[in-house]
Amino acid sequence: CGIVGYVGSKQAQGVVIEGLRRLEYRGYDSAGIALVNDGSIASDKRAGKLANLDKAIDEHPLPASTIGIGHTRWATHGAPNDRNAHPHLGGEQRLALVHNGIIENFAELRAELEAEGHELLSETDTEVAAHLLERELGKGVDLTTAMQRACQQFEGAFTLVAVDAQDPDRVVAARRNSPLVVGIGEGENFLGSDVSAFIEHTRDALELGQDQVVTITREGVEVTGFDGSPAEGTRYHVDWDLSAAEKDGHDWFMRKEIFEQPRAVADSLLGRRTAEGLLQLDEVRLSDDELRDIDKIIIIACGTSFYAGMVAKYAIEHWCRIPVEVELASEFRYRDPILTRETLVVAISQSGETADTLQAIRHARVQKSKVLAICNTNGSTIPRESDAVIYTHAGPEIGVASTKGFLTQLVACYLLALYLAQVKGTRYGDEINEWMDHLEAMPAHIEKVLESAEEIYELARSHKETKSVLFLGRHAGYPVALEGALKLKELAYIHAEGFAAGELKHGPIALIAEGLPVLCVVPPRGRDQLHEKMISGIQEVRARGAHTICLAEEGDEKILPYADKLITLPKVPVLLQPLVAAVPLQLFACELATAMGNDVDQPRNLAKSVTVE
Ligand code: G6P
Repeated sequence: CGIVGYVGSKQAQGVVIEGLRRLEYRGYDSAGIALVNDGSIASDKRAGKLANLDKAIDEHPLPASTIGIGHTRWATHGAPNDRNAHPHLGGEQRLALVHNGIIENFAELRAELEAEGHELLSETDTEVAAHLLERELGKGVDLTTAMQRACQQFEGAFTLVAVDAQDPDRVVAARRNSPLVVGIGEGENFLGSDVSAFIEHTRDALELGQDQVVTITREGVEVTGFDGSPAEGTRYHVDWDLSAAEKDGHDWFMRKEIFEQPRAVADSLLGRRTAEGLLQLDEVRLSDDELRDIDKIIIIACGTSFYAGMVAKYAIEHWCRIPVEVELASEFRYRDPILTRETLVVAISQSGETADTLQAIRHARVQKSKVLAICNTNGSTIPRESDAVIYTHAGPEIGVASTKGFLTQLVACYLLALYLAQVKGTRYGDEINEWMDHLEAMPAHIEKVLESAEEIYELARSHKETKSVLFLGRHAGYPVALEGALKLKELAYIHAEGFAAGELKHGPIALIAEGLPVLCVVPPRGRDQLHEKMISGIQEVRARGAHTICLAEEGDEKILPYADKLITLPKVPVLLQPLVAAVPLQLFACELATAMGNDVDQPRNLAKSVTVE
């Protein structure tokens, strides 16, 4: 979602709408605005793109005002309709609030408010927050204090921005694990999800820390902790041009999206565990009985999503002992697959619009199989036509080559596998919780991999003239090898192929020639023989002249003699390794294509979602 706040001397409507326009890439399911005018809130919000809101305001102009907030939404929970659009008002219409993120304990807070007589109109956590803030205001404190007090009661990750009808001089915001920056002007100040919201007005920005509340007035900016203690943000100057601003300073959306992966993975994991330590997948609308009856799973997908499906097979079979087939969507319905009422078809699609996948699920449903979609786009066709859905929370993915879409699909696959294990009783609470702990540690691990970006870029640039690259992997690293090769084909337009390392000797090893770069995804060391077997495979290609680039976990000394170049990965279980191992391969492809002068965001011949079979 995109968030804007303004206080100054200009007409706030224009500043807020323009800010939303620049943030629209963050989501365009609905948009809304609220202004303070003469002791009351004037607001409008519309489903659909910002243009709908623009038109509505043209027809029914809002009153003049120099203070306001705005929101552009990328729907995850709750349909993208007018009612669920932001801003949300408190019951007394005194407060307007926009929000990004999830307030996890909203059900408890809602019950508390209702017991006190508050009437809530929507199911959203945002409305609960608006009522709670208004309740605090009602005790006679200012909006800043109300925000501090409210934030102490919220759990989860959120950015909140609010205005109070009775205080035309301040906009107050708060953040915890969700983006928010301040733009510092003269006689005016701004808030935005990122600097593109205000970059045409000022390039002086203030970065906020975790768990901070910020108050902007015409005269200045004040930062505190949630407990009211004074705090300070970090001032910086933005030297990007406007188009780069939309990409957060990156040259490509793809690069920006690669760097958004820690956040995307964390968001996709949010709110999945109950206080009792059970895994919950609210959106899976299949009953436990229906899930227990499942005796076969068929995963269907295309492109990168297909590789996420391959990883899912390893996880589901290992944890749940249910046989899994993974099939390219375009092949599926033409081969007369065996589908019964006890078959669960899992369709993985970032866009939710891929025609091959859509036709495949239609075929499955005619055969009476249950269909569960894993999708990143709320309200798109594939989840609409499925019996159940798990949404990934990657935010809009604009680069054509999928990156954060892929990582969050992996997360959804792991969650599904653990959930099935819980329901079927093939794994128990403690073990499931341990895996969840591992998953929740992933954003930090991915961050660590991203810290070595410069090293990978250098490696990529040194391969600018390369005509062919091979990728090897074993176990869950095999789909990663396939994905690494696909990224290179998509972006660099060179020959790239992924192989199961053990299969190499049965044919493809004939491709190895002096100096050929071979990227090897090395499994972590463990009780199985995977690591040793992988080393044998690497030795075989190296003996024939290959230049080996090895991705191996930190502390893996056995790999050293066989790696011409070593990229270290954090230590994680083999099943989860794709979440960290895919990242260097994305960085490699992005940088190599950049060095070759290709258009990384819109590679030739491709489209983000292919709506023809
Ligand atoms: C297109 C894109 C790929 C993507 C595939 C599947 O071919 O270019 O990057 O992986 O579609 O897309 P989906 O939206 O169904 O995941």
